[in-house]
Amino acid sequence: MSGSSANNQRILVGVSGGIAAYKAVVLVRRLIDAGCEVRVVMTEAATRFVTPLTFQAVSGQPVRVTLLDAEAESGMDHIALARWAQRVVIAPATADIMARLAAGMADDLLTTLCLATEAPVQLAPAMNRQMWAHPATQANYARLVERGVTMLGPDAGFQACGETGAGRMMEPEAIAEALLAEDAPGDMAGLDVVVTASGTREPIDPVRFLANRSSGRMGFALAAEASRRGARVTLIAGPSSLATPAGVRRVDVETAAQMQVAVESIESMDLFIGAAAVADYRVARPAEQKLKKSGASLSLDLLPNPDIIAAVAQREPRPFVIGFAAETERLAEHAAAKRQAKGMDLICANEVGAGRGFDTPDNTLLLLWQDGERALPRAAKERLATQILDTYLQIKQDFPHASR
Ligand code: PMT
Repeated sequence: MSGSSANNQRILVGVSGGIAAYKAVVLVRRLIDAGCEVRVVMTEAATRFVTPLTFQAVSGQPVRVTLLDAEAESGMDHIALARWAQRVVIAPATADIMARLAAGMADDLLTTLCLATEAPVQLAPAMNRQMWAHPATQANYARLVERGVTMLGPDAGFQACGETGAGRMMEPEAIAEALLAEDAPGDMAGLDVVVTASGTREPIDPVRFLANRSSGRMGFALAAEASRRGARVTLIAGPSSLATPAGVRRVDVETAAQMQVAVESIESMDLFIGAAAVADYRVARPAEQKLKKSGASLSLDLLPNPDIIAAVAQREPRPFVIGFAAETERLAEHAAAKRQAKGMDLICANEVGAGRGFDTPDNTLLLLWQDGERALPRAAKERLATQILDTYLQIKQDFPHASR
């Protein structure tokens, strides 16, 4: 793939048995329109949702379902098909196929191909939110990512089962876009990047919490951009309705303490970016039962939360540390002091307030580091993410020993 776009690629699209199977038809269409050669392999269950004939009509190629089909094997046998593929994309990838792949099973044609191919394998998970959140699925997900499988999504949102949450398949257009994106080794290839995003929620009682207005947009944009540039990215996200950027491993957390545990559990880190609005305080003793309304005033006893980014900056070996400063006054002065106090290499300062910084599609930033500063005029957060990472690479080039 290096040095060329995915156009004209030979892509094997695997379709497993979920309601999102119908969306794979659009994916195949998009890939073919972009000039790719596509072959479709379906699981038996997938054929209950969409017929092989539909994919055959769209791809212009015979569709394979079974492994032990003498007639099909006399054409392009499964080993030849595995060799033919320059990449394998399974969309939708159900909890079942993720489990079978994680276990290394070869009990149908699609799983057999995944074992037999040398091509990169990418999955677009799609399942009910409970199935997605189940520890078994999460363990399978982690195992597959560890083995080099790339994940496209899942998104969060309304699901076919009527529930709302994470587990929805990424839209086929977005999957196609990710696959067709330039695949040359990016300028962050080989780097392990960890990004925190969104706000944390600190429980008051079982139904109430302390929170802030962070949407996650800035952090998700940074994760997407780092991944697009070739880094291996882990996104540790507080509650957010945003879709997981392509190729990014996402860990969902709720409280600052959970975010800290998730960050601490990551061993290899070249770059840490703290874009999350982490609550500085948590409720000392959240009530076990819902607090009852009474005429009297209510006081909450708050304890300081651990400082996640300051702890990362103390690590050995130390990653390059980028943080943010959300300020309502004396921006440059407060941000510079914060950078020093927390041991950050680079701080991105933003003025926050009504309609500024938090939960907006764009922002204005002032970047400060030991030997310089750069003002970034108002721009979409995606554009700012590019400029922040450009600045990081520039600092690394100018001061190669600034951190690891
Ligand atoms: O998510 P969006 O809606 O796109 O909004 C983006 C943003 C406004 C949230 C983002 O641009 C931003 O400013 N993020 C940091 C917000 C913040 O909490 O700033 P702070 O000045 O309180 O914290 C300074 C730094 O310490 C931050 O990098 C923060 O992640 C980190 N921190 C803070 C407290 C804590 N306990 N642990 C931390 O790691």
